[in-house]
Amino acid sequence: MSAAEKISITDVGPRDGLQNQEKILTPQQRLQLIEALLKAGLPSLEIGSFVSPKAVPAMANTDTVVAGLPAAGAYYTALVPNLKGYELARATGLGSVTMVVYASDGMSRANVGKDWLAIEAMTETMLQQAAADAVEVIVTIAVAFGCPFEGEIDPAVVERIAAKFLQLGAARVVLADTIGAASPAQVKALTGALVRAHGAARLGCHFHDTRALGLANVYAAVEQGIRHFDASIGRLGGCPFAPGAAGNVATEDVVMLLQQLGFATGIDMAALLQAATLANTLTGTAPGGRATAWLQRSLQKQSAQQASDQRQPA
Ligand code: COA
Ligand code: ZN
Repeated sequence: MSAAEKISITDVGPRDGLQNQEKILTPQQRLQLIEALLKAGLPSLEIGSFVSPKAVPAMANTDTVVAGLPAAGAYYTALVPNLKGYELARATGLGSVTMVVYASDGMSRANVGKDWLAIEAMTETMLQQAAADAVEVIVTIAVAFGCPFEGEIDPAVVERIAAKFLQLGAARVVLADTIGAASPAQVKALTGALVRAHGAARLGCHFHDTRALGLANVYAAVEQGIRHFDASIGRLGGCPFAPGAAGNVATEDVVMLLQQLGFATGIDMAALLQAATLANTLTGTAPGGRATAWLQRSLQKQSAQQASDQRQPA
């Protein structure tokens, strides 16, 4: 029997999920969510961001979160918007940052107040610095499929940016559908072209589930060979600076799809659903994955069956 092929997931709930919530969690509550995700077997977590606390109050004190992370629990990364964010992350001893670049100038100006080429230049500097510091840099291309300010994005733009940062040594380049505008046909074309040009090892996708196409987009990317996805526990998420952005595709939905396709994720569904319930309780607003009720019922049925099997005399 051959082992199932692996697909890895970064849960971005502790960052993308929490940054846009009305309720601001304490670092201890953020760590509680992280610990629940570790218990579920998530191999990788985006634990917060080093951004201006004036711009995103929910992400203040990410240094306290880093200080409380269980050692060797998972691959930990934090989002940074600029070199100051990089320095703050590095000072905590974190071994990975996720820098955001933009497939449109409009989104770059709205999110970080600088033009997109200035951010690309800053990212090049960061990659050089990070190589010297032995820190990994994941480069996420925001609005890779559609922009709230500029509409549809030319795939050639995304291909140019991806090629540039793969060549400059990014640990991974992630195509982010920041507002949930992507369609499966668009995902197929863009991920197909990138996988053919660069291989899949350092590519990933990040979808938002704004119009119920999240899982269809994951499927389209899997079919083209993408083997890394960002997802967010409980479908939490959304960018405060991108009008119309809803939650990320839910981790529990993605894990269910991948399990049914025969891939190994290393994630335990029962523990994952507990993490989703916790996310819900902590934020008071978590919408939950689209499959949550169904998954909970089938787990309940399974454990009832096991209990009844144990009661049967041998
Ligand atoms: N972390 C914390 N503080 C930062 C920072 C960072 N990464 N970068 C800049 N700052 C601070 C500066 O030190 C300065 O502080 P002061 O007012 O006490 O002197 C203040 O923020 C303004 O600095 P400036 O360089 O003028 O930035 P700005 O006001 O143009 O804001 C960003 C630019 C990038 C800092 C801000 O827009 C931001 O944090 N955006 C985050 C967007 C985000 O997280 N989006 C969602 C995820 S994609
Ligand atoms: Zn996102």
